Amino acid sequence: MNIVLLGPPGAGKGTLAALLKTELNVPHISTGDIFRSNIKNGTELGKKVQGILASGGLVPDEVTIEMVRDRLKNDDTASGYILDGFPRTIAQAEALDTMDEIDAVINFVLDDEEVVKRLSGRRLAPSTGKIYHIVTNPPKKEGFDDETGEPLIQRDDDKPEAIRHRLEVYRQETAPLIGYYKEKGNIIDIDASPSPETVLSAVLAALQS
Ligand code: AP5
Repeated sequence: MNIVLLGPPGAGKGTLAALLKTELNVPHISTGDIFRSNIKNGTELGKKVQGILASGGLVPDEVTIEMVRDRLKNDDTASGYILDGFPRTIAQAEALDTMDEIDAVINFVLDDEEVVKRLSGRRLAPSTGKIYHIVTNPPKKEGFDDETGEPLIQRDDDKPEAIRHRLEVYRQETAPLIGYYKEKGNIIDIDASPSPETVLSAVLAALQS
């Protein structure tokens, strides 16, 4: 099953994808994670996109589209995938239509106030990308990853100025995709405000029906 996760920054797409990939046994492909891994490894792509990610802007469509086109050619996508963070513009959605057929678009619905709370409290394990929240999903020992014991970090784009910009970019560039997929009839709205486990149950029920 080929699934797209849509929704504002911080709605819980990455958190849900980590749970859903185990249920469906398909890879989780996050364009944000691919960019961050390139930045961490100092690749040419990483150097090119570092400033864009830190400010909360979008990487140019041509760069992102070719990166996803390559990734979808991997053998691990044969029985499906979860795309998280792509498409994010109408041009990306149109390009994706030429690559594959999407079975379901899960649209996470969450208000701005909750988005800001989630993003400002998010912390990550740098080596694994495991996601925490200082209030709703804290590590066992404050500030440190449960598995590796490494210090948790805050993403550059989770600072207040970048969060504001990401929300504007979401409204202008990404929210129009809701109408795009409504016309196709494959979009499912999911209330992203309950716990991750409740959101997972709602998504699985929606996918089954
Ligand atoms: P990306 O990494 O895709 O960021 P995003 O879409 O803004 O989404 P986030 O990762 O911030 O949030 P999320 O919805 O995954 O929430 P999470 O599960 O972490 O992209 C980053 C950047 O890369 C972009 O700004 C852009 O520059 C570039 N980029 C990426 N894709 C691109 C594209 N296609 N085109 C161009 N540029 C692109 O949860 C957030 C917090 O909430 C966590 O702390 C979590 O613990 C907590 N939480 C989650 N769910 C719940 C819940 N149900 N209840 C309580 N707390 C919860």
